[in-house]
Amino acid sequence: MDKTPWYMNAYFYQIYPRSFMDGNGDGYGDFVGITQKLDYLKSLGIDCIWIQPIYPSPMFDDGYDISDFVNVDPRFGTLEEYHQLIDAVHAHGMKIIMDLVMNHCSSEHPWFQAARKDRNSKYRDYFVWSDTDQKYLETRIIFTDTQKSNWAWDEVAGQYYWHRFYPQQPDLNFDNPEVQEAMLNVMRHWMDLGIDGFRADAVPYLFERDGMENENLPETHEFLKRCRKLMDEEYPGAVLLCEANMWPKEVRPYFADGDEFQLGFHFPLMPRIFMSLGKQNAESLVKILKDTPDIPENCQWCTFLRNHDELTLEMVTEEDRQWMWNFYAPDPEMRKNLGIRRRLWPLLDNDPKKVALAYSMMLTMPGSPVFYYGDEIGMGDDIRLYDRNGVRTLMQWDDTKNGGFSTADKTCMPVIDDPVYGYKQVNVASQEGDPNSHLNMIRSLMSTRKASDALCRGKLKWLVDGENIPVLAYIRESEYDKVWVLQNMTDNEQSFTLDLQEGTYYDLNHPEFEIQGSSKTEIKIAPRSFYWLRKKN
Ligand code: GLC
Repeated sequence: MDKTPWYMNAYFYQIYPRSFMDGNGDGYGDFVGITQKLDYLKSLGIDCIWIQPIYPSPMFDDGYDISDFVNVDPRFGTLEEYHQLIDAVHAHGMKIIMDLVMNHCSSEHPWFQAARKDRNSKYRDYFVWSDTDQKYLETRIIFTDTQKSNWAWDEVAGQYYWHRFYPQQPDLNFDNPEVQEAMLNVMRHWMDLGIDGFRADAVPYLFERDGMENENLPETHEFLKRCRKLMDEEYPGAVLLCEANMWPKEVRPYFADGDEFQLGFHFPLMPRIFMSLGKQNAESLVKILKDTPDIPENCQWCTFLRNHDELTLEMVTEEDRQWMWNFYAPDPEMRKNLGIRRRLWPLLDNDPKKVALAYSMMLTMPGSPVFYYGDEIGMGDDIRLYDRNGVRTLMQWDDTKNGGFSTADKTCMPVIDDPVYGYKQVNVASQEGDPNSHLNMIRSLMSTRKASDALCRGKLKWLVDGENIPVLAYIRESEYDKVWVLQNMTDNEQSFTLDLQEGTYYDLNHPEFEIQGSSKTEIKIAPRSFYWLRKKN
């Protein structure tokens, strides 16, 4: 029997619950709506859903500002309906993980309210207070567009409190053992409901120490190992996915000896996929992957093209950041903090060839891919909307009212209805039956990868190096399978020479394409095209 854990080679699908599907007609996405769409996710080949925050929240940061860690926001439905969703996901043979936001809570959380009102309350020490805002000055600011300091003055408390994100999200004090216990109990609460694990939000920032940058501290790793131990002991098989927007060598310790996180997002890879496509040269991508340390055998990277946040440029050089902004975000409105608030298809000129190439890169590299809702049909964005809401618009199911998202007259977010990306043109229903649609193109690439042992679990061997890499080429090889991947980053035809054994080779995506192997097989690759080649038996 195959002993590889399921998450080593899984497709994750990220659901932003407010915008996915409204099941009760009140204009707000909910659990019942998501439950109705599980057949669709199954048909895409999804293994695990990542549902974004569903906790009660003032929604200042779209649910990442939690006012009750052990409940669901009534706008999404009841706890019972969430339970039914979890059961239905399992009945579909899929899994479900949810966001675990440990670093902070909402300023409306009763803990914070009690803390600010009374210095002697036990909750005072649940947060990080100071009489001066001149402490921890080495710590960078994350929301650079809106925040000048990580300290906010609280009138009622008569002190400053620490926050790495919005002031509406006070950081919890992990030096307090009660806070640690409370978080472990939050994990138990949701695991007991039947979920399969967590995407742990913003984990690098849990502890603060004088004179430090206050990211990735040893104390943080120590606590995260406790979280994992709890999962292993009480909920064996559950997974933890790490959100640490850091360089690979800084993310590496989050896998520890295979006893901290099983999964971690590869943040620096993502902008380099776009940089390679934009510069028509994959140098930066090859370099970052070559600089990525090995991880323990039971661990895996999560790769992704886009998510609910800005396309972060934190993990690129200042020069590359400027290049990316100029190229992909010429309108300053498209920029947000150190990133770009746009979706996949508009970034890539709505060009199916470029998008397919981006998917080819993600799907042929090691890692478990995470798909962002709506990208599979080519949804656009709305940069007129506040903050990152422009990439969180309503899922476009069909060409009826509100794109089939809701029967309500007023919805929680506007639906996109422009002539290019609008729901009348871009929707699931019209693409389902069309073999050439975006949806079926992506679905087909996804199922081709899943059918290849080498692409799923093979080792990667580079066929390219150096400063100019117009064709991104590598071999993926496992015990039973070997695939040569050739991807033309450029707008021109390229030729690439492979050293192959004699025999016939075919393209996994278009098996009618065949080529004869020799020690100098020259292959011509059309602009922005790719081959996934395998030898015929
Ligand atoms: C993570 C989330 C982001 C949120 C932040 C604060 O980075 O992805 O959406 O704003 O944490 O919780």
